[in-house]
Amino acid sequence: MSAIDLNARPSKDFEARLSETRALLRHAAVRFAPVTQASSLGAEDVVITHLIRDLQLDIPVFVLQTGALHAQTLALLARTQATPGLTVRVFEPRQEAVVHFVQREGQDAMYRSIALRKACCQIRKLEPLERALEGHRAWITGLRREQSAARAEVPLIDAEDEAVTGRVKLNPLANWSWGDVWHYIGTRGVDYNPLHDEFYPSIGCAPCTRAISLGEDFRAGRWWWEDEAAKECGLHVKPTDVKQTEQVAA
Ligand code: ADX
Ligand code: SF4
Repeated sequence: MSAIDLNARPSKDFEARLSETRALLRHAAVRFAPVTQASSLGAEDVVITHLIRDLQLDIPVFVLQTGALHAQTLALLARTQATPGLTVRVFEPRQEAVVHFVQREGQDAMYRSIALRKACCQIRKLEPLERALEGHRAWITGLRREQSAARAEVPLIDAEDEAVTGRVKLNPLANWSWGDVWHYIGTRGVDYNPLHDEFYPSIGCAPCTRAISLGEDFRAGRWWWEDEAAKECGLHVKPTDVKQTEQVAA
């Protein structure tokens, strides 16, 4: 059974949500230019990229190619890069930093402590993210409120950190359900990561992602050996949260 068969269940007001999302993307392309989409090539992100292309918006897509992605994700990246009408930028970590870290801490460092896992995410995701966002007024993500308790209040337009980062974060699918995402993919024939057909709802780096079983949470397969509270790689941790964590740790 495919992820489409399993999940495509539109909400009653799906068409209204879709119109709101399209309107937000159109508005963003003008009001927040230059704006870029962050894509992990997961289900939410392929929907957003499809909308950007469908609306012919001047919004390039970027992918953080951590060097630890699944073969299926890399194949989808190649297909996305070959799609006419899309600009796809790929950001990789600095090779010296990766080599140095792996030599010092080993390939499996992320399982040994949260600090080492975060150090790996810093090198492979956060530093490249800084480069990807340079010069942009806004970025678009696939965050949805339903994904986790920590994301329950994700706004459509998040300007909370604008004073610190100079950037706004847009979450056009914030109020979409998982059923809405798959309804869109199924009805529009959107290309997607086949790992979703193998019970990977949320896909990150290969060493840090596993399939989930029936009844498990949406993000149970991400950093599954860690406590719920630690499970963010830092891409979506706010500067304000970091300050609070530092205060608690002090
Ligand atoms: S994570 O923080 O746990 O890794 P998640 O995988 O849920 O995040 O993805 C949330 C959003 O972050 C995605 O919809 C996408 O916008 C962005 N994102 C995550 N991983 C990447 C990546 N490798 N490259 C670009 N954007 C990413
Ligand atoms: Fe490293 Fe895992 Fe973070 Fe990927 S998700 S950067 S492999 S710790």
